Amino acid sequence: MPLVPLQQILAKARSDGYAVGYFEAWDACSLESVLTAAEEESAPVILGFGAMMVDGEWLDSGGVEVLGVIGRSYAARSSVDVALIFNEAHSLDQARRGIDAGFNAVMIDTHSWPTEDAIVAVEELCRAAHQLGVAVEGELGSPAEATASGVDHSHASLTDPDEAARFVEQTGVDCLAVSVGNVHIMMNQEASIDMERLRSIHERVDVPLVIHGGTSFPRSAVGAAIAQGVAKFNVGTVLKHEFWSGLETAVRSADTHPDVHQLLGSHKDSDVMRIAQERMTAKVRSLIRQYGGSGRQMTAPELAAR
Ligand code: 13P
Repeated sequence: MPLVPLQQILAKARSDGYAVGYFEAWDACSLESVLTAAEEESAPVILGFGAMMVDGEWLDSGGVEVLGVIGRSYAARSSVDVALIFNEAHSLDQARRGIDAGFNAVMIDTHSWPTEDAIVAVEELCRAAHQLGVAVEGELGSPAEATASGVDHSHASLTDPDEAARFVEQTGVDCLAVSVGNVHIMMNQEASIDMERLRSIHERVDVPLVIHGGTSFPRSAVGAAIAQGVAKFNVGTVLKHEFWSGLETAVRSADTHPDVHQLLGSHKDSDVMRIAQERMTAKVRSLIRQYGGSGRQMTAPELAAR
């Protein structure tokens, strides 16, 4: 299926009262796990790759293009609606490369930039992207980040509702990631969400809202967040943990004289990656259900009328 504009996927989610997951992948295996989950749940999905944890030199020496090829080829064989995002690019240039590489949505990681610098860069990105039918996600505010020694609030800032309205108006972004107590890369603990702030942002901003830090977003707050304009949850860390634990189990249970051709790259049940993928797929499926996305794929007559 051709890529579907992110705006269209999010608009339908908003009008029908659910949210769509962006389940961050890092290679073909993990991307396949996400797509399998979405197809099994008959749910629209946002596929893609994030730059935040990835070596900048690797990305800049052809990595962005490799990721674009992987993403587009999986999207092309998808039976559900897919948008493809290059998430948290390190720079404006890198986001532009994402557009050239075939992503139909891009985002620059501006959380630590001065707001005025972010507005200039994101507005320029929007102009270039929109001409080509590519969506842009903006972000204002900076979620706290979990570290080995606890949650680091030193660079965190909450999104100011009036600033958010100005940011959206001046840049022209298609959706906005906000900081309302959500915490990045935090496992085994739930964030505490400032729902009043989210409501206040929703009152002033008309584009769909995005929550980064989906791993630690409280399950009990998902419905209320959707009611306050959230149409996209970004999830990363928990998926890598699921994949990792599947891989670990598979490797530990291998023979002392392993048949490497069966264990690596066979794509059969014996492939260690297959076991890791199954764990990740199960987690993505349960999150899709939490976000209310299960069974939301348009039927054939609806697609024909689109
Ligand atoms: P988590 O890793 O906390 O789920 O956040 C992922 C994310 O926000 C990617 O943009």
